[in-house]
Amino acid sequence: MPGLLLGDVFPNFEAETTNGKIKFHDFLGDSTLCLVVSGSWLRKTTKNPEISIPNYNIFRQDRTAKGGGVAIYCRDSLQSFVLLSSWGILFSHPRDYTPVCTTELGRAAKLSDEFSRRNVKMIALSIDTLEDHRGWTKDILAYNNEESGCAFPFPIIADNQRELAVALGMLDPDEKDKDGMPLTARCVFVIGQDKKLKLSLLYPATTGRNFDEILRVVDSLQLTVKNRVATPADWQPGERVMVPPNIPEEEAAAMFPAGVYTKELPSERKYLRYTPQP
Ligand code: BEZ
Repeated sequence: MPGLLLGDVFPNFEAETTNGKIKFHDFLGDSTLCLVVSGSWLRKTTKNPEISIPNYNIFRQDRTAKGGGVAIYCRDSLQSFVLLSSWGILFSHPRDYTPVCTTELGRAAKLSDEFSRRNVKMIALSIDTLEDHRGWTKDILAYNNEESGCAFPFPIIADNQRELAVALGMLDPDEKDKDGMPLTARCVFVIGQDKKLKLSLLYPATTGRNFDEILRVVDSLQLTVKNRVATPADWQPGERVMVPPNIPEEEAAAMFPAGVYTKELPSERKYLRYTPQP
């Protein structure tokens, strides 16, 4: 039975987390249309807001405002722009107080500023209680050599009844607890600003994930959602990207003014086309 497929609207589930009860879509937030009247500032205190403002609009931004957020100054006429909702990353792990999971959540916590810079909200899940999560996050902070009083940078869902794990297809039938009940696998879902599933990864309990790779795929997803390009194997941000095969040659030349390089191949087919990252 297929679980969640790419392009599906991610379920708007309710859950208890270490930061209180959430409804998932509200947790990610909604895109909002904002208006700025000419000659005035509009202030938004959302952390790391992402704003769609066409380049030709006349405006000034101040991202150094106290308390984070952004202030936008409009010089000319009434301007409208959309304050975009967050991307989301939901990742499950088998169990609290286990070694691989501790290294994974420690690494994810260390990278939380990187996810935040990309406007991605993080949330973890396992089939343990809130009390376990709260105790275990102190160990994770100690593993990271951080002060025990520090706040953990993202919430953890307490799915001790396994309801979400079942609904989202996260259980690993090969890993069982002492009562013979299956544990959660190492699942990653990346959810776009349209609340649709953009990527899923499923690792068994015995293999820890590479969070640098997860950041890299977020960079690729965010680039390819905005530009008609694809990223090749092992691509890193800033490196050249590929022109997708469904763009005809003439259109590609107009679409990528920085140039398109086509690699000669024995088949003489012109499908291996590169362009600098837009
Ligand atoms: C771990 O996180 O170390 C782990 C959890 C369940 C099975 C195997 C390893």
